[in-house]
Amino acid sequence: MNESSKFGFDSFSRLPVFEKMLFENPAGPFLEIGCGKLPFLPDYLALLGPVDCIDHCVSSIEYCQKLNSEGQFKELDILDLNIINTYALVMDTHLLHCLGSLESYQKALMNIHRALKPGGLFLLETMISHSQMAFELNLKYEPSNFQLYKGDRVSRLVLPSIIVEEQFINAGFKIEYFKVEDGLRMIPHDGREESIPEDPQVLRLVASRPKDL
Ligand SMILES: C[S@@+](CC[C@H](N)C(=O)[O-])C[C@H]1O[C@@H](n2cnc3c(N)ncnc32)[C@H](O)[C@@H]1O
Repeated sequence: MNESSKFGFDSFSRLPVFEKMLFENPAGPFLEIGCGKLPFLPDYLALLGPVDCIDHCVSSIEYCQKLNSEGQFKELDILDLNIINTYALVMDTHLLHCLGSLESYQKALMNIHRALKPGGLFLLETMISHSQMAFELNLKYEPSNFQLYKGDRVSRLVLPSIIVEEQFINAGFKIEYFKVEDGLRMIPHDGREESIPEDPQVLRLVASRPKDL
């Protein structure tokens, strides 16, 4: 799959934990982060209605605005998200693995956790590493810090699934669903249309902000 492929929203939306969230919060509010080309859109507009969207890139926002005319859009870096106890659902396809370091990843997760209402859900689709990964000549993977470089620039953070799990738990989440999709691969850069077995694997995860005891 490439990074704008159809997302498995449908498989998420049938999970009991998702149905419970929606039953308790029919009006949300709902947030998509790193909206980009918004592969979620057709599915979630039918099910959820208008969704707030943030992205740090103006052209991504302009693109999404044309498709989701009732949504609220904001140009914002996830690292600057400063909202508390608001969203019933936050969704991300492919933003988190664009962050440059584990420190940024942890900060983003803490911001998302804080933005959720207690009991709220975070849905994530992201790339993860595996032992057979290999990359084109213009990319270099540094296993010690999980950074994938394109030239001098960190292009992606390709974490092992166990580190993703650890990051979520450290940020205070409870993991509700955690699935490495058999046979699915995600193209780690823009230069190809078809994925190959050496590309990163795909993780789909649902995590909740636990209700206070
Ligand atoms: C790989 S694209 C994915 C876009 C879309 N979610 C999709 O699946 O097609 C990543 C998106 O995240 C946005 N993004 C990357 N880093 C971000 C950050 N720190 N804060 C907010 N948005 C960010 C990019 O501008 C881009 O739109």
